[in-house]
Amino acid sequence: MAEDTSDRDMSKMNRNRTGQGALMFVAAGLLGLSACKGTQDTPVEADTYSSLVSERGEISFPADFPDGFRFIGSWAVAGEGGVADIHSVYARPSDVDAFRQAGRFPDGAVLIKEVSASRGAKHTTGEAFWPTDTKTWFMMVKDAKGRFGDNPLWGDGWGWAQFDPADTTRQIATDYKTDCQSCHIPAQDNDWIYTYAYPALGPRGQVNLPEGAKTAAMTPDAAGHEASAATDGKGDPAAGKLAFETTCVACHSTVAGKGGVGPSLAGVAGRKAGTGPGYAYSPEMTNSGVTWTPENLAKHLEKPKEFIPGNRMGNLFPNGVRDSRHRMDIVAYLGTLK
Ligand code: HEC
Ligand code: HEC
Repeated sequence: MAEDTSDRDMSKMNRNRTGQGALMFVAAGLLGLSACKGTQDTPVEADTYSSLVSERGEISFPADFPDGFRFIGSWAVAGEGGVADIHSVYARPSDVDAFRQAGRFPDGAVLIKEVSASRGAKHTTGEAFWPTDTKTWFMMVKDAKGRFGDNPLWGDGWGWAQFDPADTTRQIATDYKTDCQSCHIPAQDNDWIYTYAYPALGPRGQVNLPEGAKTAAMTPDAAGHEASAATDGKGDPAAGKLAFETTCVACHSTVAGKGGVGPSLAGVAGRKAGTGPGYAYSPEMTNSGVTWTPENLAKHLEKPKEFIPGNRMGNLFPNGVRDSRHRMDIVAYLGTLK
């Protein structure tokens, strides 16, 4: 597998996986904020709220990050060649302590996520990946009082921001509802934060784990199914169900007519795109002229942004399912949903 991570493949992977970053290019340049010189460990006072937030709700990246912050946990996002992106999450020690006691973040709490590209190679531990360039920064500031009702970066109890990796004084999110919110819906009951991934938050963070959360030992790879779909040309619906439950259920139900962030996928196989009941599709999806044959389903899952340009899944799930075997397994499973 290490051989897959050649320079050519890495740049291809990066191009395909700039999903979260892609929003950034659209928005870049609209909002340039000056760096806030206040330090993040200044106590939050009722009248000043946060040294990182202006009176109008503009959010600044802490000028002295990572000073004053603590690493609380990380994510490895799987890709074809192994790990595509590494996400590292940070909070201030005082906010971590408060969460450990109360099970929620206090007013003014700051969370920062760094998205890094990665490289991998065989190591004495196995195939190990490490973070390389920063692709983008995300930041959230807890607002328990709904202070900035008319500012589109604020809502649902948080201020939401994204920063240019080349210049963290440039805040580049424009509206949290389009830039952030739908992707965080699975964590809505967790105050929008995926707390279970952050060991530093202690047992109170271990709530609302995703259904079907698995350990590496349970993945089809580890179970030794390596060759199934890729070689016989047919997916394995049972493996596909498992993959569906970890990857798709956040947005798709399998109950006919039950829409969520995305449409129900009951009966999707053989149907015309954008015609299922109970869901308001984008015109791009409805007018695509695509019929969901197994081939087209696989293409849509491989490149959700490109196969039907402009469809909403492209922005919400930009990386798609990179692994061809997982794709075929999922397509086989979709074929069983009547
Ligand atoms: C493509 C979907 C997607 C988009 C768009 C997105 N997020 Fe997230 N975000 C996630 C997921 C999933 C996680 C946790 C898993 C991970 O990082 O892979 C996360 C984690 C985070 C974290 C770490 C704390 C936590 O919630 O677990 C912060 C902070 C964050 N996001 C802020 C933002 C902000 C601010 C925006 C908009 C400017 C945004 N995100 C847009 C999906 C998204
Ligand atoms: C973060 C949310 C999200 C995730 C995750 C997601 N999708 Fe989607 N999906 C959507 C949205 C939104 C649409 C509707 C797009 C539109 O109308 O433009 C959609 C549309 C579709 C469609 C077209 C359905 C139809 O009736 O025409 C298929 C097929 C599909 N998704 C399959 C999947 C599969 C399989 C997975 C998991 C591998 C997945 N999606 C993961 C949000 C998501």
